[in-house]
Amino acid sequence: MRTERLKPDGDGIARAADLLASGAVVAIPTETVYGLAGDARNGEAVARIYEAKGRPSFNPLIVHLPNLTAARRIAVFSDEAVALAQAFWPGALTMVLPLRPDAGIASLVTAGHETIAIRVPASDVAQELLRRFGGPLAAPSANASGRISPTSPDHVLDPDGGLDGRIAAVLDAGASPVGVESTIIGWNGDRPVLLRPGGLPAEALEEALGRKLARKAGSDDFSPSSPGQMTSHYAPNAALRINAPDMREGETHITFGRPGAFSLSPHGDLTEAAANLFDMLRRADREGLPIAVDPVPDHGLGTAINDRLRRAAAPRNNG
Ligand code: TXA
Ligand code: MG
Repeated sequence: MRTERLKPDGDGIARAADLLASGAVVAIPTETVYGLAGDARNGEAVARIYEAKGRPSFNPLIVHLPNLTAARRIAVFSDEAVALAQAFWPGALTMVLPLRPDAGIASLVTAGHETIAIRVPASDVAQELLRRFGGPLAAPSANASGRISPTSPDHVLDPDGGLDGRIAAVLDAGASPVGVESTIIGWNGDRPVLLRPGGLPAEALEEALGRKLARKAGSDDFSPSSPGQMTSHYAPNAALRINAPDMREGETHITFGRPGAFSLSPHGDLTEAAANLFDMLRRADREGLPIAVDPVPDHGLGTAINDRLRRAAAPRNNG
């Protein structure tokens, strides 16, 4: 398959919508990372997403919708979920909510679970595409399973482990401004739980909710049958040493709060560091040496950055 590279204009968006309507999978821009989208109502299209990523089929996908009204047709919203949607959508927030059984979502999207992960992306191009397509789009990050998430079309098509030739098209809207995946929250009974730190700081959610989020320990990968199995994630080829302020010979050093050939943010700005994180990991990896990373403060977006770095540094047992 030849992968088309589509411009983010009317023609490119129309072509992406047509391909999606035909059941093909297309990499699409969002403000967090690029997603690998397919029609969430079409089981074959969803199967193509898993196939292109080489993703274990028990790991459910996020469904993208244009607004809260469309989202309410798919999932059951509590008052608290509505309040968060009104405060943070469109944006980098995903909510795991009870699935409406009559929503018409392919069961492969939720991997058979009774909940569904839902997000309204802020990217203008994603919004335009959702309007044009007129349905729910399932989209995990557009990387091969276990590899670094893509924040640009070049990452999506990377000859080293990317999806070129495995997907119908990539819709090119340049770099993803947030740079880390959405924050995922769910509810355990009445209790809000942070399932994955991400592009919306947990502090902002807690402020809006007026209460603390419970933290889910361990892996963000939803695999009830084998918890922890997929802890290694976002993995570069090189070994990674984190919280490493010392420079050692024979290592590529990713810096934070100081300059460097691979600096996440010379002035220590967490928003800038999140936007640069995945591109910097890929670029540092090309040096072919072990990678060491400066400590990054563990608050705000730093929580998501440290989460991704810990996973990138985790032992690889999944090939
Ligand atoms: O920013 C993002 O969230 C990007 C863009 C493309 O929207 N998407 C993304 O998708 O990061 P993905 O598939 O790489 O990560 C989705 C996470 C997985 O860890 C999955 O296990 C979890 O969401 N998830 C999905 N449905 C779930 C559910 N019903 N219950 C619990 N976790 C769920
Ligand atoms: Mg992912």
